[in-house]
Amino acid sequence: MVFTHIGLLCSGGDSPGMNCAIRAVVRTALFHGMKVTGIKRGYAGLLKSEFMPMGLSSVGNIIQRGGTILQTSRCPEWMKSEFRTKGAEILKAEGIDALIVIGGDGSFNGAKLLWDEHHFPVVGIPGTIDNDISGTDYTIGFDTAVQTAIEAVDRIRDTAHSHARTFLVEVMGRNSSAIALKVGVCTGAENVLLPHEKIDHQKIVDDIKRGMARGKDSSIVIVAEGPVAGRSYEIQKILKEKYQLDAHVAILGHIQRGGSPTANDRFIASQMGNLAIEALMKNNFPTVTVEKNGKVTLAPLAECTAKADHNFIEFQTLAHTLSI
Ligand code: F6P
Repeated sequence: MVFTHIGLLCSGGDSPGMNCAIRAVVRTALFHGMKVTGIKRGYAGLLKSEFMPMGLSSVGNIIQRGGTILQTSRCPEWMKSEFRTKGAEILKAEGIDALIVIGGDGSFNGAKLLWDEHHFPVVGIPGTIDNDISGTDYTIGFDTAVQTAIEAVDRIRDTAHSHARTFLVEVMGRNSSAIALKVGVCTGAENVLLPHEKIDHQKIVDDIKRGMARGKDSSIVIVAEGPVAGRSYEIQKILKEKYQLDAHVAILGHIQRGGSPTANDRFIASQMGNLAIEALMKNNFPTVTVEKNGKVTLAPLAECTAKADHNFIEFQTLAHTLSI
């Protein structure tokens, strides 16, 4: 199959570096004489035919910008087959012959259904700060989010030290431990609480007291937000009421999703965007551009549709060992 007109959308939570991937897709496609149509606001925008033509300069001056110029959305309707049928019809009517989806596992599930049911050619590019998609060691945006969180925790450490305080710093990661573990290791946190971990309050208190006994002035506990953001307040309450331990809460929230992408995110996103077009040219689809052992390569789409908290879990022991 020879592709001449590529559709491109972002779906799910945005992540820094998505713009670099958009730029690389557009520039590579145009380099090879293809046409690209940007689809605004993900699958929801597709269902409303929200298209924008992507010329060379449409992706100029965006490599350093966070967010996504195409905008994004979470689209529950796409999980219903009648909406996917409508989406496939809209794509075909627009003359689009392949779709590139930048997003997370949910977005890839949507793309896989489009392939399974309508044989519409799709290639995925992993973009989420959570770094939690099966089949890839890396997702675009993780490095930037971690760097942002580290800078915030370093600032909190300054004031925590001055006042000899304990802070619960909540980082993003609904089902993912990756941000919490990497930030925990890189900030010398005294404790890291994972998203689905049953909280052992006694242990938190014991760890903090042990540190204080040997002269530590401040303690930082990194809390992965888990299914419901704000769980740190409940932990704070129990620490106070049951153990008389005062802790301050700082929830970093969406600050972690914005900002200028790091060199690492720009570089990987640029390679992935480029490879997505090459995959289509070689008729290698449905696939996802992935990072494996430090190399950007392709994996079958079916391997990348699950949430997988696999990329940093091995560092739990490291975080624990270094925090004694
Ligand atoms: O994109 C992933 C993520 O940032 C999670 O870490 C977080 O739990 C969730 O998205 C927040 O989603 P929303 O922006 O829709 O509140």
